[in-house]
Amino acid sequence: MRLTILGGGGFRVPLVYGALLGDRGEGRVSHVTLYDEDPGRLTAMTRVLADQAAAPGVADAPAVTATGDLDEALRGADFVFSAIRVGGLEGRAADERIALAEGVLGQETVGAGGIAYGLRTVPVVREIARRIARAAPGAWVINFTNPAGVVTEAMAEVLGDRVIGICDSPVGLGRRIARLLGARPRDAWIDYVGLNHLGWVRGLHVGGRDELPRLLADEVALESFEEGRLFGAEWLRSLGAIPNEYLHYYYFNRDTVRAYQEAERTRGAFLRDQQRAFYAGTGRPDGPPGSALAAWDRTRAEREATYMSENREVAGVGEREESDLESGGYEQVALALMRAIARDERATLILNVRNRGTLSVLDAEAVIEVPCLVDANGAHPVAVDPLPLHAVGLVTSVKAAEREVLAAAASGARADAVKAFALHPLVDSVAVARRLLDGYAKEHPGLGYLR
Ligand code: G6P
Ligand code: MN
Repeated sequence: MRLTILGGGGFRVPLVYGALLGDRGEGRVSHVTLYDEDPGRLTAMTRVLADQAAAPGVADAPAVTATGDLDEALRGADFVFSAIRVGGLEGRAADERIALAEGVLGQETVGAGGIAYGLRTVPVVREIARRIARAAPGAWVINFTNPAGVVTEAMAEVLGDRVIGICDSPVGLGRRIARLLGARPRDAWIDYVGLNHLGWVRGLHVGGRDELPRLLADEVALESFEEGRLFGAEWLRSLGAIPNEYLHYYYFNRDTVRAYQEAERTRGAFLRDQQRAFYAGTGRPDGPPGSALAAWDRTRAEREATYMSENREVAGVGEREESDLESGGYEQVALALMRAIARDERATLILNVRNRGTLSVLDAEAVIEVPCLVDANGAHPVAVDPLPLHAVGLVTSVKAAEREVLAAAASGARADAVKAFALHPLVDSVAVARRLLDGYAKEHPGLGYLR
């Protein structure tokens, strides 16, 4: 089994490789091809992966090759993981900074920052999808590239249901709730639906009974996990659901914008500096054995510990608890998905797929985030209860903004791009939308196609 990782020099690649090392099953991945435009990042990651493969107790590690040639990387692939960051962390920092300067949320994937990120990413991933269709027509594509919902939708125009988007946040949320309720995650049915980074857990069923009301009634339990502390027990009870952590940017928008404006650096700027140091220094190819992996691990730990720290500050909650650090493990989601398809091992996973008829307020092509049954024929969304009206409002208006991103990337029309910003519920004026686009166009060469 051959796996190709686009964005193979990316920081999360060792997580994926680590998951592959733990897979002893039949038909496991035997060969990994890393593709990246940046040879320096490829060299650093190749070293980290070599350290992982050389660790005590590791046997039959998948072979790793690295290349800067996309078609060569794709040829013969059974699976393609797409995990690129168009514009790099410098671009992310600009997405965040320019929005905050206009007084609206500046964040990687949500609000104006996410629109800017989508506008420069969609043309690139459409081209990648066409190249995959030519060079590896039989491959399944697992998309991690953010903003994952709109990017998956863009790739699906070319690849249909052979592209599936993933995110770790709903899985992590489901796990944390299951643990609190004393249920094993695999025994729980999680009633979750929405868009990527915009969904809600409406129920958690164990043995046919919905256990979520028990959690919502328990003040102590509610205050004991990440989303409970972020949103507060009272608001969770009002909603009657547990939102994805990214909904914090909507429900506490003014507060998070202020906290982000007051922060010394944006998250993107922090990560840009942190990763620059990692790739330039400790990731060098000439260190002693094990040193690249150790440097990577230190960097990763610091990154995880500071994740969404401003949001936690706004909510008046302290450091992340050990139990909150355990994410859904996006590499585990990716591996479970790949296994279910390759070995026809049925699994239920929360994924980003085309809606078909799942949410009646959206059309069939709209990519949504929803529990899916996965087998050798791909991911099949399951039927879910409709969303309540306030959630319908958010989901449809964010999808409308995403559709304008897709339209602008196809037409190159500035008016479509302005519309994308202006229609987003976290951008409060058309005048602001116009200034945002001007600011972003000046900063990002990747937006040069807009006229
Ligand atoms: C979660 C989300 C990803 C997002 C990441 C940002 O894992 O699911 O979509 O990219 O957080 O984390 P960072 O450490 O880069 O701020
Ligand atoms: Mn995500």
